[in-house]
Amino acid sequence: MAQQEDHFKKVISHAKEYGYIFGSSEIYDGLSAVYDYGQNGAELKKNIRDYWWKSMVQMNENIVGLDASIFMHPTTWKASGHVEAFNDPLIDNKDSKKRYRADVLIEDYAEKINQKAEKEIAKAKKRFGESFDEAEFVSTNPRVLRYREEQDTILKRMARSLEAEDLADVKALIEELGIADPDTGSKNWTDVRQFNLMFGTKLGASAETATDLYLRPETAQGIFVNFLNVQKSGRMKIPFGIAQTGKAFRNEIVARQFIFRMREFEQMEMQFFVRPGEELKWYEHWKETRLNWHLSLGLGKENYRFHDHEKLAHYANAAADIEFNFPFGFKELEGIHSRTDFDLKAHEEHSGKKLQFFDPELNENYVPYVVETSIGLDRMFLAVFSQSLEEEELENGSTRTVLKLPAILAPVKAAILPLVKKDGLPEVARKIIDDLKWDFNVTYDEKDAVGRRYRRQDAAGTPFCITVDHDTLEDDSVTIRDRDTMEQKRVKISELNTILHDKIDFKNWMKS
Ligand code: GAP
Repeated sequence: MAQQEDHFKKVISHAKEYGYIFGSSEIYDGLSAVYDYGQNGAELKKNIRDYWWKSMVQMNENIVGLDASIFMHPTTWKASGHVEAFNDPLIDNKDSKKRYRADVLIEDYAEKINQKAEKEIAKAKKRFGESFDEAEFVSTNPRVLRYREEQDTILKRMARSLEAEDLADVKALIEELGIADPDTGSKNWTDVRQFNLMFGTKLGASAETATDLYLRPETAQGIFVNFLNVQKSGRMKIPFGIAQTGKAFRNEIVARQFIFRMREFEQMEMQFFVRPGEELKWYEHWKETRLNWHLSLGLGKENYRFHDHEKLAHYANAAADIEFNFPFGFKELEGIHSRTDFDLKAHEEHSGKKLQFFDPELNENYVPYVVETSIGLDRMFLAVFSQSLEEEELENGSTRTVLKLPAILAPVKAAILPLVKKDGLPEVARKIIDDLKWDFNVTYDEKDAVGRRYRRQDAAGTPFCITVDHDTLEDDSVTIRDRDTMEQKRVKISELNTILHDKIDFKNWMKS
């Protein structure tokens, strides 16, 4: 645990030191849970967004993009249920005056029980070695079974109480479990209350005529209200999807854990419109497809798991999260929701406009069902960044800090380094940059000894260093160094473009 906390602290300071993430308006002491992306952060974020967009829109003939506004007609949020039901159950500690999400306190408690089960499994794995049968152990070991049942009972009771809006029982559960304020250990709690998460604002010049608006809390509704516009203008046939990326805003009361939970964040969402009755088949399809997308980045299969929802949102008939092993444990990274026809029907009712599809094969009109995939771009950033940051022990006993970002996402793909600042080497390095920069984001670095420059680029996450030395002047060859293996190869300058394409190109990456 202490090791995890230590790693998380390193992630935050490294992100600042290398120009990835800064606190918002820092010169005024910052704004809680709001962050700015620096020169490298903006590139990494853009590359994650592009990787998602290409995979979802460019690679699927039946998925198209959209860029809807942040402001929407206020009735949108009545129809979607956000005015009524987009609430968090909050509880205050009377002694520390700190506010928490009651469901998160209970989930964290349940996760601790799960960790005990995981510890038992890890111990047994070590004891039995090769012959260990995990499935058999998990289904028969009395301690693991007891921990799992305890966890299950707690989560089911919480889900039932939240579903029934029985907030008194949520408080009773916190008290029965003896959950204390994580910061102070106090168990002196207030009642649990609901708190709406939408930010309100005003449109219009004078107070009398201004219209009350909300900043959108999800990008999905921009897709629903444009369903027919896109379907008709694009002559889309069911099944088809509409994807968009963009900012969303939530007045998160308990905004902790760096960019994991922010008040202003970016979502990458896709709504897939299907025939009624076929939604669960597509739900399974998208669960698998999205997990494979994550795995394609090579951050380790063991760092992902599905979590099927016990408590379904007001619009869903099935829902699961893809959870990632963040520095503070497994938490939601992406949601896959079977949203039924809830949203389109609600918008039909509130707008009085039909939002239906004429299915020529069935010869009938219907309101399509929807399967949604929804991922937070900032959360994805944190997953990639935290998993990539390593303190690596080298054979000579020294350590190096290396940010092993997937090369396809790295902000800068290659650094071009003249061995010395004279003898015409900088000029050759500049010529290489002038050629590569048409296709790749590359940088020039001539300060310090080349070994220190390698370390600097390792820590910044640059996958390749290209060194120009005196031999280059004789034979047009350079050294290309791989960040992860530290292997160095001699190649011709004329080959550099192809080498980088082979390693970083979207097509080659996906195919390999
Ligand atoms: N349209 C469905 C929807 O918005 P959600 O589970 O509330 O569902 C989807 O959000 C994703 O958005 C989450 O899985 C998470 O990655 C991201 N997300 C939600 N709230 C966030 C916040 N406050 N800060 C950063 N990312 C957030």
